[in-house]
Amino acid sequence: MREEVATNLRLWDGWADLHMSGTGYDVEGFIASPESRPFDWVTREVVGDVAGKRLLHLQSHIGLDTLRFALAGAADVTGVDFSPRAVAAARSIAARLELPVRFVQADVAELPDDVPEAAYDVVFTSYGTIMWLPDLDRWAQMIASRLVPGGVFHIIDVHPFLTVFDDVTTEPVLGVRYPYFSREPIRFEEHGSYTDREADFVADSYAWQHTFSEIVGSLLKHGLQIRRLQEYPVVSWKVLEFMEEGADGLWRMPAGIGDIPLMFSLTACRPMTTR
Ligand SMILES: C[S@@+](CC[C@H](N)C(=O)[O-])C[C@H]1O[C@@H](n2cnc3c(N)ncnc32)[C@H](O)[C@@H]1O
Repeated sequence: MREEVATNLRLWDGWADLHMSGTGYDVEGFIASPESRPFDWVTREVVGDVAGKRLLHLQSHIGLDTLRFALAGAADVTGVDFSPRAVAAARSIAARLELPVRFVQADVAELPDDVPEAAYDVVFTSYGTIMWLPDLDRWAQMIASRLVPGGVFHIIDVHPFLTVFDDVTTEPVLGVRYPYFSREPIRFEEHGSYTDREADFVADSYAWQHTFSEIVGSLLKHGLQIRRLQEYPVVSWKVLEFMEEGADGLWRMPAGIGDIPLMFSLTACRPMTTR
């Protein structure tokens, strides 16, 4: 495992523990009443009906969205995450809700044989995913290999354009701080987590910028066909300090600051036949 990924693994183990007890994910509230904590509207709109589907959720974290798929009627649900603490947390929540969801601890770039090839109708990933991955070519190859012919892949994530802007300043100004085209990892010192910056936790992280052409190109290279691409003026976490939260739990730019894309979704399909 490369050093930056090992650093991120330590971060995510810490964040998994933090998110199990903090208010951001409200795990106890979810366990008490999962039906009152459904998917947000973007996820519902992108994924649609999953009833009866065999579903693979990549980078499933503590598993709340994975469990929502089971609650929505998916027939066979597997979550994958590289953090042992996140996987243990997800398994404990699934056990308390008595939901038959499988959680596998693995790097998404190196999926084990018990996440079999050509076995899933839907592969899904969302909200803070590819920024943690150094190599989208391996990622796309893995996604294509796990889908059945005719199966679909959905990603919903921060728009790559947004991640060039200054995420430190509290001044409501869009200043370019990070490169768009660089493939080098960017090091951050994380205080607390994205759910609570005041929490008593400090760790390093490394993130990779992936351009829109790299995201789309990697999927096309591995034979997937793009079916739908959407951009949004909302994003699922407070990426810039001066963003404002809406009643739907999604974050927006304050009025007058800049009408820019904050998030994208993409649906791609593995063709029924390959030429
Ligand atoms: C922000 S979370 C994704 C959000 C999650 N879907 C949710 O609903 O909360 C990112 C997840 O990616 C995982 N992760 C990061 N790098 C990974 C890798 N190389 N392989 C597998 N999981 C990884 C982290 O452990 C973390 O749980």
